[in-house]
Amino acid sequence: MELITNLREFAHWRRHCRSRVHFVPTMGGLHGGHHHLIGRASRPTPPDRSRPEDSPLVVVSVFVNPLQFGSGEDFQAYPRDLQSDVSLASQAGAAVLLAPATDQLLPGHRGGDLFGVRVPERLAGGLCGRSRPGHFDGVATILARLISVVRPDRLFLGEKDWQQLVVVRNMVEALAIPLVVEGCSTVRDPDGLATSTRNLYLNSAERNRALALPRVLSKAQSLHAAGSRSAEDLVGITRDRLEEAGLSVDYVELVDPCSLRPVPEA
Ligand code: PAF
Repeated sequence: MELITNLREFAHWRRHCRSRVHFVPTMGGLHGGHHHLIGRASRPTPPDRSRPEDSPLVVVSVFVNPLQFGSGEDFQAYPRDLQSDVSLASQAGAAVLLAPATDQLLPGHRGGDLFGVRVPERLAGGLCGRSRPGHFDGVATILARLISVVRPDRLFLGEKDWQQLVVVRNMVEALAIPLVVEGCSTVRDPDGLATSTRNLYLNSAERNRALALPRVLSKAQSLHAAGSRSAEDLVGITRDRLEEAGLSVDYVELVDPCSLRPVPEA
């Protein structure tokens, strides 16, 4: 695997690359969830499934994107360990790890002189966006830049960040970017919590409390499977159980998975 930190060097690699390129963007702190994404991105996809020699090359980017952190969030504290990222990406089968400097990827950022993508309120204003204003504009802006640098055939994102996945799918369609966005299922640690860089911040008491999330969500799934359909009931029960477990709840909503609009029934 090659580690490339310079965009001009990457452009050279990309010009000479004759394979399909599959792209896994990350902010580093690579873990089992990223391993799964890279593994999935390494698999040949139609129409070349029958010709294993046409396996795609996987580019993984590592860039802690200042645009998607709000004031008071963990931009400075976010884990940065390039050596460990290199070793995980290479074990998982990536061909290139692209780790550009901020001034190369976001020239003008420090002076506030930046072209950016603005995500419509209907997608970015609710759910996680309600407590993180500007976050999805930051994600969309950096991904638009990374996509134009990497020029991938397919982009792989985790379903764990569902709102982000929907925002990116909508951006790709609205800006007519010629690539396929693939959502990959959430990877969980053995105790059931989603594998996530930020979950490493939790001490053991916090982690125990956080385990209410997968437990209560799967209970809501069982209620739904048993015939409970009303958003009011499902949301109410879920919120109550999370609060009973000692969690302070930002939101519980039942929304359409594509439009993110609230729905009255599941
Ligand atoms: O999901 C992430 O790690 C980030 O939001 C992404 C997609 C790499 C953009 O910075």
